[in-house]
Amino acid sequence: MNRVTDILGIKYPIIQAPMSWVTSAELVAAVSNAGGMGTLGPNAGQNTVANGPEESAERLRTEIKKTRELTDKPFGVNYFPPGIGSGENPYGEAQLKVLIEEKARTLVVVGVANEKDIKRLKELGFTIVFRELHPTVSGAKAAERAGADIIVATGFDEGGSTPNIPVGTMTVVPMIVDAVNIPVMATGGISDKRGVNAAFALGAEGVYLGTRFIASVESPAHDNAKQDIIKHGTEDLVLLRTGHGGYWRATPHSVALEAQGLNDNQVHSNFAKIGNLKTAMLDGQLEEGINTYPVY
Ligand SMILES: Cc1cc2nc3c(=O)[nH]c(=O)nc-3n(C[C@H](O)[C@H](O)[C@H](O)COP(=O)(O)O)c2cc1C
Repeated sequence: MNRVTDILGIKYPIIQAPMSWVTSAELVAAVSNAGGMGTLGPNAGQNTVANGPEESAERLRTEIKKTRELTDKPFGVNYFPPGIGSGENPYGEAQLKVLIEEKARTLVVVGVANEKDIKRLKELGFTIVFRELHPTVSGAKAAERAGADIIVATGFDEGGSTPNIPVGTMTVVPMIVDAVNIPVMATGGISDKRGVNAAFALGAEGVYLGTRFIASVESPAHDNAKQDIIKHGTEDLVLLRTGHGGYWRATPHSVALEAQGLNDNQVHSNFAKIGNLKTAMLDGQLEEGINTYPVY
């Protein structure tokens, strides 16, 4: 037991990080039932793009209810506040209404450290796990001041889209641990007990893992994407620009997008239009989308 397990009401200080399209009720409940905290990500349990914020929020409501049928343990829900920094999130308010009505307990809030947003969520009674997309000491301090319960420190080793600050997990974790008094969880490239031990040695009080769960039996990722991730190693890694200063860590198939003559920005906006990670990771069309993984 430590501060993280106390705050989240779980047995082990391990969070399954939210991942768009591939963190369904089944995966979330499996992690929570095993003593960690599963987290529903955007498009959880879906296989089509929602028709606007209201439909997206109602789908989230259904997935929350489904998760509750599969586990009586605590789980989290990913939430991007409206002022996320890289643009307004038109889905935020509709989602928040559902989260309040469904009495969600813990929000995994990801974005910029906007004190007003975090304060408002605290006043609404949520437990806040806050992950600054591009981690900074000032952002961690601001989130703590605003009432965040736990900070997630993200290293450039992260799967999915990286921070735009090219600093690894080994550096970011102690930097954030030294900046705040609330517990810090480490994320980015952690996949086994050695990584967990290293995170704790750096002062973290828990770990937040994404990619490690993608190829699990309970994950809804397409088998093509799972096998592709298992098959590829460090020497295959491709970095594709995200459009916000970071990179998508991708398997070599994703290079097909650039080979179609699209520049970085076009790859990014094209990819956003087709439902972000859905094409490769959920539908298994590896040449048409981005299959993302870190380097372990
Ligand atoms: C396929 C994939 C999709 C992701 N989608 C989201 C998302 O929708 N929301 C979010 O806050 N983070 C997202 N992330 C980031 C993860 O929540 C987490 O920060 C990251 O996976 C941690 O690094 P690791 O994969 O090395 O464990 C995604 C990561 C991956 C690999």
